[in-house]
Amino acid sequence: MSTPELKERAAQHAVAAELKSGMCVGLGSGSTAACAVNALGKALQDGTLQAIIGVPTSEATARQAVALGIPLRELHEVEGLDVTIDGADEVDPALNLIKGLGGALTREKMVAQATTGRYVVVADESKVVTGLGQHAPLPVEVLPFGWRFQAQRLARFGAVPRLRMADGAPFLTDNGNHILDCTFPDGIDDPQLLEWLLIALAGIVEHGLFLDIATVAYIATPDGVQRLGDGPGLE
Ligand code: 5RP
Repeated sequence: MSTPELKERAAQHAVAAELKSGMCVGLGSGSTAACAVNALGKALQDGTLQAIIGVPTSEATARQAVALGIPLRELHEVEGLDVTIDGADEVDPALNLIKGLGGALTREKMVAQATTGRYVVVADESKVVTGLGQHAPLPVEVLPFGWRFQAQRLARFGAVPRLRMADGAPFLTDNGNHILDCTFPDGIDDPQLLEWLLIALAGIVEHGLFLDIATVAYIATPDGVQRLGDGPGLE
């Protein structure tokens, strides 16, 4: 089974298991979250779900949701979210995550923190790691102003930072910022400590460590979808 098929499977499973009519739903970003948005659009079109409000985590997701006819609100227009479904770049055994290879980490984390109900991760099995930083770089969103100084500071924390580029120019997030993709040659020893160090630095807007946020993860394998977090099992 191909990776896109696994992503599709995880997303469809999560939408069927987690969404109920009338919910306010955070819509994640990236290719797996896009499968979930598609599944939601289909469920609204065939009447399986009704009266859902979506809160998108990126401009790309907003465009996709509008095309599917999913009613949207901005984050500041809602009281809180019942559930958010989003992808991840790494998922550790405690459901701590690295996110942001799609560049939407700041809005994704704001929506995650506004989610009073369940934060649902959808991923294929390649995203599961025993410790964060083993495979994926940690994306750090920085203000363009003085970004080289942030890169130097990050290097002091053991990171090898690289400015993300797109079409020959620094990548710009939906918020107009740059991203430093930070590789940790020995993995991330202490994610909590690193989080503290990162939030103390002026100019760092947000980072892709999502610690103690996820409620459940639906991980697609060729043998089925594994639910991690609240009652593990193969479904
Ligand atoms: C975007 C993200 C994505 O959720 C993450 O990169 C996973 O993407 P994909 O589902 O395409 O593998 O954090 O900012």
